[in-house]
This record gives sequence, C-alpha cells and structure tokens, in this order.
Amino acid sequence: MPKFESPFILGGGSNMLLKDNIDTLVIHIDLKGIEVVSETDETILIKSMAGENWHEFVLYCIENNYGGLENMSLIPGNVGTSPIQNIGAYGVELKDTFVECSALEIATGNIIIFTKEECNFGYRTSIFKTSRKGEFIITDVTFKLSKINHTLRTSYGAIKNQLATNNIKQPSIKDVSDAVITIRQSKLPDPKVLGNSGSFFKNPIVSKAIFEVFHTKFPDAPFYIVSETEYKIPAGWLIEQVGFKGKRFEDAGVHKNQALVLVNYGNATGDQIWQLALKIQAKVLANFGIEITPEVNIVP
Ligand code: EPU
Repeated sequence: MPKFESPFILGGGSNMLLKDNIDTLVIHIDLKGIEVVSETDETILIKSMAGENWHEFVLYCIENNYGGLENMSLIPGNVGTSPIQNIGAYGVELKDTFVECSALEIATGNIIIFTKEECNFGYRTSIFKTSRKGEFIITDVTFKLSKINHTLRTSYGAIKNQLATNNIKQPSIKDVSDAVITIRQSKLPDPKVLGNSGSFFKNPIVSKAIFEVFHTKFPDAPFYIVSETEYKIPAGWLIEQVGFKGKRFEDAGVHKNQALVLVNYGNATGDQIWQLALKIQAKVLANFGIEITPEVNIVP
C-alpha cells in the first residue's frame, strides 16, 4: 500500500542514489515555462518553472544575452532542484543570481515564497536539504541576470586555459559557456551514456589546524582557502591518492578522468555503488584522517 502521506518528490533525478526501490507515491515535477518578471536597461528578473531542464534554461538565457548562469552550463537536472543543493561550478554558485523561489508546503498545500536569505545557502546545501528537508515542492525559481556589462567569471584555471586555447581574449557569455561545456565533456561522463550523479562526495572543509598538519605532510596537494579559519581540500585528489581512480568492482566504478565521480557501468545495484562509496570513505579517513561525506542524496 503506498504511503500517500509522505510522497517522494522527483525532479530531474540526476543527483540521487537509490539504495533500494521506493515504496511510496512518487511525484515527478514537470511544470514548464519561462517568464520575464520585470526588467530594466541593465538587468532582468526571469522566472523558470521547476520542471525546465537546467542546461536548456541556461542556453535560453545565453541566446537572449542574459548573463550570470554561463559557468553553470551542462549541469544535469532541473531548475526546481537547483536551489536544494545550491548547484555550482567554476567559481559560480546558484545563490549568486538567485532571487527567490516558490514552494508548495506539502503539509498544508500553501505556496510559500523563499528569499535568498531564507534559503540559507551554503556550499552544496540549503534549508531544503537540511532543516526543512522533504517539506516542500519547489515550483519555480526567479533569477536576476545581467543584460549588459556582464560580469564574467573566468579566473578558474580550466576556463582560462580553454579560452586561451581558442585564442579568445574578450570572451562573451557564450564563449564562457562553450568553454565550460568543453571542460565538462572532457572530464565528466555524460549520465545518458555512463550512469553517474556528478561529484559523489563534497570537497571536505577542514579547520586551519587540521589543514596545517595535512599540508605539511602533503605539500603538493591542491587546496582552496575558504576563510581565515577554514580550508577546502579536493576530495577527487584524496580519492586518487588512495588508489581508487579508474577502478572498477563489477559494474560499480570510479571514473577514470575524475575520481570524485562514481559510475555505474550498467548493472550495479544502488547498494553496490553505496558499498563502494563506503569503502572509499573509509580508506580516505584511514589515510588522511579526513572524513568525506556524500554530495548526492542517498535514498532512503
Ligand atoms: N583532482 C585530482 N584527481 C581527480 C580529480 C580532481 O587530483 O581525480 C584535483 C584536480 O587536479 C584539482 C582539484 O582536484 O586540483 C579539483 O578538481 P576539479 O577542478 O575537477 O573540481 P572538483 O573540486 O573535483 C568541483 C565540483 C564540481 C564542479 C567542479 C568545477 C564539488 C563537490 N564538485 O569538483 O561540481 O563541476 O568543482 O567547478 O564541489 C557536482 O557538484 O556534481 C560537480 C560536478
């Protein structure tokens, strides 16, 4: 008997690992439409319904010369799920252009508007993934984008290199989007061809004290400064160092070009992927004393 009181909300389905079948009502969000809310000479407020494909929405914005989303080209999934984990890539996060989203409160049927502050966005997280998890169905998302004087974020090494390879000195938002598409296609497997959910783990953020010990032992490891007291260490590097990059265990594996991406060669069960994730997590902890936690939603 389906448990109608707790439906399972499915967006694009691109960022989840199902460990088992779902025995409840599944609601797939397929609300379509893009509308201009308001605009000035410089900026535009644009609203997309939750069921629009994220990348197609990004391409629509680029075709219309609306800037701000280009670094997040080719991220799988739908617009409605993008705020849940505050998607991000190449130096840009959803929160940078997010204005508000509407959400249906499942318990009451009321539509509630969430401002950026109310979403409490962080690195790959929001209230929809933490304190209010499972309570809402996001129905639309509004972004503030530029129409002129676009702020291009091209400082990320891979983007810089790609633009230089193509000899582009004054890039347009389309050039940046094209560069991101090329980079992603070279590193990240296409989920339509090889099953995957993008980065399986988050890049761990550690205290300065822990980082200093780590950095002394592994001076060549890449890192990012998050704040005066926190450092981010790429989980892909940690996983590669403990020998999992490109490894395959029956149909569950670690991608050969990006160790942060777990792949399903066809017939791995959700639980087999999960067991591989646990093995990787344990080995990274044993070798580095650093815990890596999943970025994908593990169901149940
Ligand atoms: N690295 C390795 N070995 C690997 C993979 C990475 O040594 O197998 C090193 C790289 O050399 C680099 C560093 O780790 O120095 C970072 O790698 P990369 O630039 O590929 O990015 P990432 O930190 O692994 C994050 C996001 C991606 C996003 C990219 C680009 C997370 C969890 N992942 O990956 O987002 O596309 O940066 O901005 O923050 C996603 O969330 O699903 C996702 C794909």
